[in-house]
Amino acid sequence: MFLLFFLYSLFGKTYSSSVFHPNTLYFPSFGPESCSNGQLLCMGSVTAGTGFLSLTPEPQQGNLTLPSSSALNKIGRVLYPQPVHAWPAIISTTFTLRITPFPNSTKSGDGMAFVFAQDDRPSPNASHGSYLGLFDRSTQGGGYRQIAVELDTFMNEFDIDANHVGIDTTSIINPVAAVSLNSTGVDLKSGRDIDVKIEYNGWTNMLHVSVGYSGNQLNNVLNHSIVLSDIIPSSVYVGFTASTGKTSPESHQILKWVFTSVPLPLQTDEHTKHDTINTILIIVIPIFLVALFSSIPFIWEAFRKDNFRRKKEEDIENLSRRAADSPKKFTYKQLSKATCNFSTENLLGSGGFGSVYRGIISDITPKTVAVKKISATSKQGEREFFAEICTIGRLRHKNLVKLQGWCHDGVQLLLVYDYLQNGSLDRFIGKDILDWQTRQQILTGLASALLYLHEECGNPVVHRDVKPSNVMLDIGFKAHLGDFGLARLHKEDSMTSVIAGTPGYMAPEVGFTGKVTPESDVYSFGMVILEVICGRRSKGMMEENSLVDYVWDLHSKNALLQCVDKYLNNRFDFDEEEVKRALKTGLACLHPDPTLRPKMSKVVNIFQNPNEPLMELPVNRPTGLYESLSVTSSASTTDFGSKGIHALLQSSTESLEEISISYHQP
Ligand SMILES: *[C@@H]1O[C@H](CO)[C@@H](O)[C@H](O)[C@H]1NC(C)=O
Ligand SMILES: *[C@@H]1O[C@H](CO)[C@@H](O)[C@H](O)[C@H]1NC(C)=O
Ligand SMILES: *[C@@H]1O[C@H](CO)[C@@H](O)[C@H](O)[C@H]1NC(C)=O
Ligand SMILES: *[C@@H]1O[C@H](CO)[C@@H](O)[C@H](O)[C@H]1NC(C)=O
Ligand SMILES: *[C@@H]1O[C@H](CO)[C@@H](O)[C@H](O)[C@H]1NC(C)=O
Repeated sequence: MFLLFFLYSLFGKTYSSSVFHPNTLYFPSFGPESCSNGQLLCMGSVTAGTGFLSLTPEPQQGNLTLPSSSALNKIGRVLYPQPVHAWPAIISTTFTLRITPFPNSTKSGDGMAFVFAQDDRPSPNASHGSYLGLFDRSTQGGGYRQIAVELDTFMNEFDIDANHVGIDTTSIINPVAAVSLNSTGVDLKSGRDIDVKIEYNGWTNMLHVSVGYSGNQLNNVLNHSIVLSDIIPSSVYVGFTASTGKTSPESHQILKWVFTSVPLPLQTDEHTKHDTINTILIIVIPIFLVALFSSIPFIWEAFRKDNFRRKKEEDIENLSRRAADSPKKFTYKQLSKATCNFSTENLLGSGGFGSVYRGIISDITPKTVAVKKISATSKQGEREFFAEICTIGRLRHKNLVKLQGWCHDGVQLLLVYDYLQNGSLDRFIGKDILDWQTRQQILTGLASALLYLHEECGNPVVHRDVKPSNVMLDIGFKAHLGDFGLARLHKEDSMTSVIAGTPGYMAPEVGFTGKVTPESDVYSFGMVILEVICGRRSKGMMEENSLVDYVWDLHSKNALLQCVDKYLNNRFDFDEEEVKRALKTGLACLHPDPTLRPKMSKVVNIFQNPNEPLMELPVNRPTGLYESLSVTSSASTTDFGSKGIHALLQSSTESLEEISISYHQP
């Protein structure tokens, strides 16, 4: 162990980048066109129904009950038509399945599998029955590179029972792991919806499988250590297989499927590294062993001390979760290492105040983070930095991007955030990916974040730049509002005249008065509602055919639903009433008169409670009158100066929680 540790620290971890963007495949439902529109590769007996894919034939077709003989010896395989990144990566996939025996049979088979396959070929010819569409009977699949997680419903002589989960790599007869589901109470053939979650951690090489009836807690049934790179190529096809045998068939359906793979950085240049390691080993090992034996008592002592120290640290951490939760100070070196020296491969995006990089912080467990590097030497940037750590550092909400830490090293200003796997919401606007429930979940999450900022976190905080590219999505497509670079503590009498914000999302009065208010955030939020539902980007307020005009027009014609984006319309079912309510709420938020816009608490109530009355909307788009607003631009910009920042940062030793925030206008 010491030897390994020694070598490890000798070479350190030098990263080179790999394919960088996460892969997310998202099928909240399937439809009759799922096999024909090129979204999936349906092979063998796979057909698409309304709401599900059938991997093998169904007992019922329309009002006909088919004889079971029509479904014997079938093989189905469905794959996503593009390869995904399998290693090095963190993988998580969840799917809902339903297995139903044909009527009047006491037993049925054979089961199904989730598969990582080397290519997009169909299942082998003779892979029906116990081979689950995975392996050819004669060759046992020799030479074909795949990993399958099987959900087996038929007991063959080599199986543990007729209700188990297993992992297969080269043979169905000798699974590398298998475990019965009996103890979890889940019966694969119950005809009920069953959720299966498969996770692979590329750091620990552990594959985890969890199973449970839909709506219930998942049971973690299997953990198995497996090195993906030994078995499958780095780029693989993923999907499902199923088969029936020669006696009693069953139907195998997939109802939902989400797959995400987040690539991890590669270690550099395996070959040269191995060679160097070999040469060095020959020289180093003997010296090392001698040193080791002569210093055992010393090392033991150090080890004991280290353990003791670690334990103490853990205690402290446990005692004060609050402190552990608060932003930490990082050194520039740490962050530079985490992002491979801010390599372009790790660049996530650039904005007004700097660039954001993906990085890996090797703490006790390595963690992926987003590092925002603020353009150096700009006074403006420095002020934003200060505002951001003060504001976001003390804010905690499940729908806000969490600040992990910061770094202020000479001229370098950096912020470290949680990394959110699915990137920003703007990538999904006008795309065929999100169903209505997911869009609603995102809007509700964003509304809760704004409610917290405006009404619940003490001093009201105005975000100032609410727009889809500032809304980050996690692996479950929950919204996290980020980028507080422009946020300021909001006080009635202390508003700045600096107009910062994004045209198209900025409330009209901000252009006239220079004042940002919670109401101007509400306006921007209204724009996000329209974009998310209509699948269109907003243009500037003054432009012809603006999105707001378009939706108001349809509202006046009592044809609001016509603006719903074509993907939502064609591919997914949605509740028309819910969508209309959301659109009307969006229009209310976009009211030109800020005093007539709803408060975020009202918006959240409308989203969460179907009986909450909507805001009154005029039939036609109201036109704004800005004279009524007093234009009292105080023209005072806050200038904290670098000295102030230094003092503040130094006074906070470990935790930003200790900083008490008081903004006094000069
Ligand atoms: C069964 O379906 C066929 C064709 O779809 C239809 O003509 C027939 O009336 C249906 N029978 C019943 C009992 O619903
Ligand atoms: C199943 O059994 C019932 C009664 O035993 C019978 O009426 C029915 O026709 C059978 N169904 C099939 C598909 O064999
Ligand atoms: C599988 O079956 C097809 C069609 O029957 C045949 O063309 C093909 O050669 C078979 N493949 C193998 C590997 O036997
Ligand atoms: C699981 O339950 C089934 C039915 O009760 C039984 O036949 C089977 O042997 C059980 N499996 C194990 C591994 O005990
Ligand atoms: C699998 O590992 C997790 C921790 O990673 C543990 O909580 C769980 O109990 C393990 N499950 C089984 C079935 O061993």
